[in-house]
Amino acid sequence: MIVSSSAKPPRGPDRAAALSQYRRRAGIYDLELALFEPLRRKAVDRLALQRGETVLDVGCGTGLSLALLKQGVGASGHIIGIEQSPEMIARARARVAQHRYRHVRLMCAPAEEAPIVGLADAALFHFTHDILRRPEALNHVLQHLKPGARVVATGLQWAAVWALPVNLAVLGAALRSVSSLQGLRRPWSLLAQGLEAVEVQSLMLGAVFLAEGSCPMPAPALG
Ligand SMILES: C[S@@+](CC[C@H](N)C(=O)[O-])C[C@H]1O[C@@H](n2cnc3c(N)ncnc32)[C@H](O)[C@@H]1O
Repeated sequence: MIVSSSAKPPRGPDRAAALSQYRRRAGIYDLELALFEPLRRKAVDRLALQRGETVLDVGCGTGLSLALLKQGVGASGHIIGIEQSPEMIARARARVAQHRYRHVRLMCAPAEEAPIVGLADAALFHFTHDILRRPEALNHVLQHLKPGARVVATGLQWAAVWALPVNLAVLGAALRSVSSLQGLRRPWSLLAQGLEAVEVQSLMLGAVFLAEGSCPMPAPALG
C-alpha cells in the first residue's frame, strides 16, 4: 500500500488545473514532446514487452506511446490507455483509428478510478508527474498488475542544485505539464514503495529520470 510520507498537508496535483492545462495544450502537445521521443523508446524498451501481453499506458495523453507498445505486445497483445483529459484522449482515439490498432482500449477517466478489467503484465507512466504524486492512483493501478509485472516511469525532475540552467528548463517545462511541483526532487518515490528491485537513472543532464521495477511476487507458502 502506497502512502504519502509528507506530514504536512501536501500541495499535490489539482485535477481541475490539470484538465484545463491539457485542454489548452492538446493541439500542440505532440510537437512539444518531440525532444523527448528517444526517451519514450528507451522507456518502452525497458518494459521488455512480450507478444500477447497486456500493458497499461497510464496517463496515455495523445497516444504517442501506442505504436511502440503495439510493436512490443504484437497483434494479439492488448493495450489499456488511461487518460483523464477528453481533449488528449480524443487524439489518442484518432490515432488508434488511423492505424487500425486492434486490442487497444482507451478509458477517459482519472487513473485512480479507471475501470480496469483483469491484471496486466506491465505498466508505463511516461511523463505523468501528477499521477505519480497521487497514492490513490498508484494503488489502483498496481492492484491491476500481475505479480512480477514490469513498471517503468519517466518524467521531469529537479537536477542537482548547482545546475541552475537545467533547473530553469525543468521549471519552464514543469509549469506547462504538471499541476503541482510537489515531489519533483524524487518523482518516483511513492511508486517505489509499491515495487521491488527499483532502479533509477538520471538522464538529459539530470533533468529527467527513468525509474523501473517490478510488482512484488507473493511470498512462498511456508511448511
Ligand atoms: C505530460 S502528459 C503525458 C502523456 C503521455 N504519457 C505521453 O507520453 O505523451 C500527462 C498526461 O497525464 C494526464 N493526467 C494527469 N493526471 C491524471 C490522472 N489523475 N489520471 C489520468 N490522467 C492524468 C494528463 O491529462 C496528460 O495527458
